[in-house]
Amino acid sequence: MAMQNDKLSKNLLHSQTHIWNHIFSFIKSMSLKCAIQLQIPDIIDRHGSPMLLSELVEALAIKPERTQFVYRLMRILVHTGFFVKQSVSSTRLYDEEEGEGYSLAPPSRLLLKEDPLSIRPFLLAMLDPMLIDPWQNMSEWFHSDDVTAFHTTHGGSLWDLAGQEPRLNRFFNDAMASDARLVMGIILKQCTRVFQGLDSIVDVGGGTGTVAKAIAEAFPAVSCICFDLPHVVDGLVGSKNLTYVGGDMFEAFPNANAVLLKWILHDWSDEECIKILKNCKEAIPSKQNGGKLVIIDMVMKVDKCDGELFESQLFFDMLMMTCVTGRERTEKDWAKLFVDGGFNDYKITPILGSRSLIEVYP
Ligand SMILES: C[S@@+](CC[C@H](N)C(=O)[O-])C[C@H]1O[C@@H](n2cnc3c(N)ncnc32)[C@H](O)[C@@H]1O
Repeated sequence: MAMQNDKLSKNLLHSQTHIWNHIFSFIKSMSLKCAIQLQIPDIIDRHGSPMLLSELVEALAIKPERTQFVYRLMRILVHTGFFVKQSVSSTRLYDEEEGEGYSLAPPSRLLLKEDPLSIRPFLLAMLDPMLIDPWQNMSEWFHSDDVTAFHTTHGGSLWDLAGQEPRLNRFFNDAMASDARLVMGIILKQCTRVFQGLDSIVDVGGGTGTVAKAIAEAFPAVSCICFDLPHVVDGLVGSKNLTYVGGDMFEAFPNANAVLLKWILHDWSDEECIKILKNCKEAIPSKQNGGKLVIIDMVMKVDKCDGELFESQLFFDMLMMTCVTGRERTEKDWAKLFVDGGFNDYKITPILGSRSLIEVYP
């Protein structure tokens, strides 16, 4: 009996811890955001060797009385895999520093301000109150007729609001550009064949043109168009083989050999995607004449293979539900969408972690 009670108590307390860890999961994101705003990875990187807590506090220009708060922030970020503690031999060691200093763990390298592959702007955008607030209205949204929880909070779509609020427009475009730099770095190393043989390509919803610029530079013979809403591309200047065109992809966009859709279709419902796909088909030649669609998006796993990757796909799917009208799709969902959009064949190349490169043929 005593053993049974003991087991019941253990299960109860295990459940309580499970709930606590989920209640407070936001503390992981917010602690990371704070460290990034304080530029802690940049400071430690510039230091060039494991950095003592006292050195970090001094470099942060934080009053010494706050040292224990910096220690506690760093302790959770060591736990969550952003920093590591390494031994240091220094004459300025204080007793409580135990001969250890902080170094960057690999994910922090991707958050350095000056690193060409940094996704710091993506982190700061996704954790901006404008994109976080809709989560507070999710249950209210379920009972309403609002299109998304973003509408419930802000009274319009993300795209409308970006056209009205220059700060949102700027940080959102910067976030997308940072992701595009990382993705194009990989594609242009591992999958150049995708763009070989093309005369022209239009990047629909191409933001401020990071992807189009990368293709234009790597393939000077390919004429590239970056097409996006007028508030995104107005005032941007192209080059010899890059032009910017403003418009609405639900209306029409310029013709080309290939259409690129990076992180576009996951923003939209199936009905909206079918409209976009039909416009893509109008814009490209037949398969025999080299026409194709290049999609960069997630292909959702159907089972839990790699826990962290599967969880990031679930997070993105919820993000698409909360902030826009879209969703993440399994291969089966994609296949149906392509047929409904008038396409005949597709090929998935899973070279981008949780995302894939999908070539679709008319
Ligand atoms: C998630 S972002 C992706 C940006 C870029 N493709 C990338 O991955 O870096 C979606 C883009 O679609 C654009 N967009 C939204 N509605 C649009 C429309 N009706 N016509 C053209 N572009 C649109 C947005 O302005 C934004 O740049």
